[in-house]
Amino acid sequence: MLTRRQLIKGSAALVLSPIEYAASETVSPKKALGLKEAFKNDFLIGVMLTPEQYLKRSTQIDGIVTTEFNSITSNNSFKWESIHPTTRHWDWSYADEFVNYGLENRMHMVGHSLIWHAQLPVGLFETRRGRQPTSKSVQARMDNHIATIVDRYKGKVNSWDVVNEALGSNQKWQPSPWLNYLGPSYIERAFKIAHEADPRAELVYNDYGLAAPEKRKHLLEMLKDLQKNKTPLHAVGMQGHFNLTYPHLNEVEKTIMAISKTGLKVHISELEVDVLPNPSEQQDSAEKANLNPWPLGLPTSVEDKLAVRYSDIFKLLVKQRKSIGRVTLWGLADQNSWKNDFPIEGRTNYPLLFNRKFQKKKAYQSLLNLKK
Ligand code: GLA
Repeated sequence: MLTRRQLIKGSAALVLSPIEYAASETVSPKKALGLKEAFKNDFLIGVMLTPEQYLKRSTQIDGIVTTEFNSITSNNSFKWESIHPTTRHWDWSYADEFVNYGLENRMHMVGHSLIWHAQLPVGLFETRRGRQPTSKSVQARMDNHIATIVDRYKGKVNSWDVVNEALGSNQKWQPSPWLNYLGPSYIERAFKIAHEADPRAELVYNDYGLAAPEKRKHLLEMLKDLQKNKTPLHAVGMQGHFNLTYPHLNEVEKTIMAISKTGLKVHISELEVDVLPNPSEQQDSAEKANLNPWPLGLPTSVEDKLAVRYSDIFKLLVKQRKSIGRVTLWGLADQNSWKNDFPIEGRTNYPLLFNRKFQKKKAYQSLLNLKK
């Protein structure tokens, strides 16, 4: 709500000369309709931020983030190796800044992620003498890690990716030290510990490739067991590392509907659309030699395909909006995407909604057009 003082200041602008008016505009620019506004009746629109972005190094970027998005996820700041680099040492600096940024801008915040098999510090699964720890002590480390972090941000971080990528594609479970030491029950336990630390936080299971029928089957089996044991689990994050053709959106829809049937919410938690050739799919040597075809800019024809793909994805998500809580883009602008370095390092990819100059792409426009 405006204060009286702001109201008086605002009405004064009506009688300013054009020059004064322009000057007052730069102080308080009128915000354009952003994605968060366009999809406000559907779901939250989130973005993954890098530290430079939430440390507000640029007012231009800050303006885009706060106009377009109402939810934020941090790329690395909450991961074990960053926040808890040795058994006794915590580094809260980045996560605290991220949370301050979220509070300042009244953003919905996602803590990503508490238990994962990757980005773990060296030595986590060793005793001080370099021996194998007992499963009891691994259990104690896991419990302490979750409880300490969730408690610190209780009432501030709204949603936690409690367990990330526990499922396999061919076999049921993804190989993981947590699984080796504790067996699959570590998943249920992680949720219970997080829930005890902040009973009001939303708790999420997050994974990639959930549109594939085999992995969907593994997911549903796991959810059934977790629910049978009254695990405090509220939503599933389908990461959404898509490309121009994969996955088929019918399969995405099947997974959304199947999750929703279990009573859980669905989030699309890490969305981007890779436009570059996939090395494993290239047959002839000419194609293999040209795996980085557009280092200087995306041809209009591909820009158009990307726009259609984003629009098709969002059409489906809007259709399924009753099941969807949040859609988070995995990065703000193209240069912020991990897809420039994965699966091959040093390529130039174009997977997001803003280009390298932080301008809106056709893909962005195709989303606003859905709401016209
Ligand atoms: C996975 C993780 C993310 C991130 C991406 C790659 O999806 O969940 O945190 O590391 O890989 O950027």
